[in-house]
Amino acid sequence: MQDKHPHSVPYDVPYTMADGNLENPAHLSPRIAELFPSRVVAVELTVEAPRSVLTEVELKSISHCANKRIDDFTRGRACARRGLRELGVEGFSLLSGDKREPLWPQDIVGSITHTTGFAAAVVAHRAQVQSLGIDCEVIESVGEDLWERICTPQERERLAQLSEAQARRQAALIFAAKEAFYKCQFPLSREWVGFEDVSIEIHDDGTLRIVPEVRLPVAAEWVAALRAAYHYRGQWAVTGVAAPHCS
Ligand SMILES: CC(C)(COP(=O)(O)OP(=O)(O)OC[C@H]1O[C@@H](n2cnc3c(N)ncnc32)[C@H](O)[C@@H]1OP(=O)(O)O)[C@@H](O)C(=O)NCCC(=O)NCCS
Repeated sequence: MQDKHPHSVPYDVPYTMADGNLENPAHLSPRIAELFPSRVVAVELTVEAPRSVLTEVELKSISHCANKRIDDFTRGRACARRGLRELGVEGFSLLSGDKREPLWPQDIVGSITHTTGFAAAVVAHRAQVQSLGIDCEVIESVGEDLWERICTPQERERLAQLSEAQARRQAALIFAAKEAFYKCQFPLSREWVGFEDVSIEIHDDGTLRIVPEVRLPVAAEWVAALRAAYHYRGQWAVTGVAAPHCS
């Protein structure tokens, strides 16, 4: 995207003393920040995170779950914590709502994703961005058996015309874009949107367009104003969706 991002931490630098919290291995991610408007803080993590990054209340909220779920939650919260710190918020317990949505501080918007080997979070002041969504999918895991569930018939037709490898990459992108869109729209609508309710236009310049296929719980103009972008990164397809404030 065009905006110059204010954070100048080199890509893939491991966590440093500057992060303040030496137990938190999550680090600022200029590469993910490129998927979003400026002033969005992006954080990523490609290793496990110690449970000590969680606040007592967060740990308690998840302690009834299986270890894998606790590990995923912890990686996501480690990213969120690092991002919140950048916005001047420390020690905040980021709990989940009844639809699993993260309950951010009142003046902050954000989004979290975690998948095999990768977790990320984006945050911004609500005064600057209305809502955010991020998602990451492992390309290999989005096989043809999933297309029926995640694609519209037109999207399936387009995929069928590609080579197997290319189709798998684009299917992962479609999946990730729809989930990022869902996360972005949910805090505003609090409504379900199905995979067949929108389609994804993939552009070679790294941008995406989200096209409503039915009447959505959010206004068509709102969807048209979204900024959506993607990149492929090794085994992953990563997507970001941001809702700017209406001018
Ligand atoms: C909610 C959903 C999008 C999460 O995506 P996922 O690929 O399963 O998992 P990810 O790791 O990328 O994201 C998980 C994080 O999403 C966030 N999340 C979950 N539900 C959310 C919601 N309703 N609103 C916003 N964010 C939500 C949480 O932070 C969660 O991590 P946490 O539980 O550790 O806090 C997915 O499970 C889902 O229900 N999808 C169906 C709806 C949909 O995507 N429709 C497509 C419409 S076009």
